[in-house]
Amino acid sequence: MGTLLAPSAIIGIVGAGTMGAGIAEVATQAGHSVRLFDAVPGAADKARTRIAGSFAARAAKGRIAGSEAEAAARRVTVAATLGDLASAALVIEAVTEKMAAKSELLGALETVVGEDALLATNTSSLSVSALARALKRPERFAGLHFFNPAPVMTLVEVVRGRETAAAVIDLLCMLMRAWGKTPVVVRDAPGFIVNRVARPFYLEALSLLERHGADPATVDAVVRDSGGFRMGPFELMDLIGHDVNAAVTQAVFEAFDRDPRFAPSRAQAELVAAGRLGKKSGQGIYDYRAGARASRTRGRRPAREKIWAGHLRLSRRRGALAAPGVTAGTQTHARDDGRRPRPCGRLGPSDHGKRDSLRARVG
Ligand SMILES: NC(=O)c1ccc[n+]([C@@H]2O[C@H](COP(=O)([O-])OP(=O)(O)OC[C@H]3O[C@@H](n4cnc5c(N)ncnc54)[C@H](O)[C@@H]3O)[C@@H](O)[C@H]2O)c1
Repeated sequence: MGTLLAPSAIIGIVGAGTMGAGIAEVATQAGHSVRLFDAVPGAADKARTRIAGSFAARAAKGRIAGSEAEAAARRVTVAATLGDLASAALVIEAVTEKMAAKSELLGALETVVGEDALLATNTSSLSVSALARALKRPERFAGLHFFNPAPVMTLVEVVRGRETAAAVIDLLCMLMRAWGKTPVVVRDAPGFIVNRVARPFYLEALSLLERHGADPATVDAVVRDSGGFRMGPFELMDLIGHDVNAAVTQAVFEAFDRDPRFAPSRAQAELVAAGRLGKKSGQGIYDYRAGARASRTRGRRPAREKIWAGHLRLSRRRGALAAPGVTAGTQTHARDDGRRPRPCGRLGPSDHGKRDSLRARVG
């Protein structure tokens, strides 16, 4: 087990989406060879290309040497089958946030990996103890909850399931430190720490949109620029993926006996049903497709024109819609500098019909 800390230890990753690719990048940068498997043909290849592009971009900016970037990219290989992960010292699963899918995969992985190998899940919200039921040897299984984007975010929640061995938690914490991360051991509670505390951040923002016709770009700007958050709730949900964010909300909601505080958002369910998953699908609250107009609401970051109904355009007109919840930002953003959204008057009774018809146009 101790050999896991050596760069020669092979790391297996299952699920080559947003998180799997990000974690692969972190592991290869730490010197490991990484085998990446995805159930969708071609997905792991695409992830590998993205990882190589990311290293090349860092080399172009002078952050790492070109030779180092090339070597790191080369260490990531695509596994054609789960069986190709047999020699991995640690396999981290980062597949869809569904108990059944993850349980089935973990059961299959256990038959493939060696006796000493560790297994980990990147789940955001599912119970690690419940997932461990799929395993014959649950003591070697834990949660390793990376945050998005994995190469940038330093926090990793190390989740101890009921059966996880203390030595496994210690080893994973050491490994995370070796990867330049800050591990925090957390209890196997719904949403762990961050996703529990952050739930209202997303849900209240979605409620502002649904119930008060708020302009997402304005909410984002107020939270980001006035509140000092790195990203506003809507741009963050677009980055996470609305499918993932909605699944996490659902899991936390169920785990808390359907406490209304965590009730899933209808607007978000509509986005998911329409395939507007966020950045990864090209459209979410904002539009990321090639040719989409860059948003005037953004300064240094590359967000695009918001496509949530027509609120943005309306909010730029005098006296148009605004969310009651964001008028507090009026002082800060009173002047339209062409980069930030300009908060405007409060929502009036005559605006309701307009708002409802706008909402009806949302796909
Ligand atoms: N997106 C985030 O911000 C974020 C942050 C932290 C943790 N997570 C967690 O990470 C996990 C993955 O999320 P994501 O955002 O990368 O999702 P994603 O949709 O971007 O990628 C999931 C990938 O898993 C693949 N997949 C699905 N089932 C599979 C299976 N049985 N075997 C192999 N591959 C399979 C899919 O083809 C897809 O490529 C989830 O558990 C999620 O909750 C996500």
